[in-house]
Amino acid sequence: MLSVVPVLGVVPVLSVPVLSVIVPCYNERANVAPLVARLAAALDGIAWEAIFVDDNSPDGTIAEVRRLAAEDARVRGMRRIGRRGLASAVIEGALSASGAYVAVIDGDLQHDETILPAMLAVLRAGEAELVVGSRHVEGGAAGGLSSAGRARLSNWGNLLARMLLPVALADPMSGYFMLPRARFEELAPRLTGQGFKILLDLLLTARPALRVREVPYRFRPRTEGASKLDPLVLAEFAGLLVDKALGGTVPLRFLAFALVGAFGVLVNVAVLLLARRAGMGFDQGQILGTIAAMASNFELNNRLTYRRMRLRGARLWRGLVLFMLVCGLGAAANIGIAAALFQLHTAGLIAGAAGAAVGVVWNYAVSATLVWRAR
Ligand code: GDD
Ligand code: MN
Repeated sequence: MLSVVPVLGVVPVLSVPVLSVIVPCYNERANVAPLVARLAAALDGIAWEAIFVDDNSPDGTIAEVRRLAAEDARVRGMRRIGRRGLASAVIEGALSASGAYVAVIDGDLQHDETILPAMLAVLRAGEAELVVGSRHVEGGAAGGLSSAGRARLSNWGNLLARMLLPVALADPMSGYFMLPRARFEELAPRLTGQGFKILLDLLLTARPALRVREVPYRFRPRTEGASKLDPLVLAEFAGLLVDKALGGTVPLRFLAFALVGAFGVLVNVAVLLLARRAGMGFDQGQILGTIAAMASNFELNNRLTYRRMRLRGARLWRGLVLFMLVCGLGAAANIGIAAALFQLHTAGLIAGAAGAAVGVVWNYAVSATLVWRAR
């Protein structure tokens, strides 16, 4: 059924949505139609729209969304190209919404959509500014987590998050929540948009803290498709916390890049020592160490810092060569600046640190634009 209201029998006017449901999805093709049907059933009597935000999934999720959108004006699809990330998908979807309230729900049917009206009622009654679908309050259940390890991870994350949060929340890691769109618009410019934990991001951003209520639900097991959570999501989680602790002043990518660089120094020294032990001269050993450090820095940055735009195949080799050129220039700048400062009678340690700082900033800035073309 189309949600159109005929006006005097001429132009059909779309009914204005009260609730915009944002659905981040990646490779969820088989889940789209069932979710739309379930939303339609659960939200009977409420004007709603659903916005599926897909990161150009190889399984053709967006084509399925478009097919349904052609039949039902309440369904919309947003296709992002060259991007990955649950949190940023949610942010962009919510910013394209027009309902008075926005809800975020997973696209894999794990979140129970039948509690949406109850969540909306809490907001409409002004009982809270944010409602969270919770697995950990009376009546809720987390049984659907894919493995015992995954459940343990979730519990540890929960504990950590609860210590840091300005509000008491039983399930701060939930990906299922609802708030007035105006509130979201207000917070959006200050969100980190990193990784999986958009709810935590919202909670840690709002000052004063949001008034929160939880509504229990039973987390369902996934039947179609696979989870996109991997161990690196944990690193992103740590990144989100660090970013919030620093008040968003230092780009997270830069921190990751600098950490990788520090590790590279260890690689360099280790290889130099090994080469010396094998009877090599200092200069040759140092060249070998530098090359090894650059290669390991490249690989680590490719897998961690730039995992969302990871280079593969031919682009990997091209990237490695470019990275070595960029870092070679960075090293030259590092040595040049340190030597110049030293000649001006700056203390050796400070001269060296200044050279290294210029080097790492140069390497970061140039490789972000040339090697990984950060967006
Ligand atoms: N657009 C987009 N881009 N969507 C994504 C991406 C991405 O890079 N990664 C994941 N998604 C979508 C999935 O397709 C799914 O609809 C939803 O985000 C959740 O991803 P899952 O891969 O199913 O995550 P999960 O079930 O392991 O984790 C869920 O439970 C956690 C609590 O334990 C999520 O709801 C988390 O947000 C939640 O914290
Ligand atoms: Mn899931």
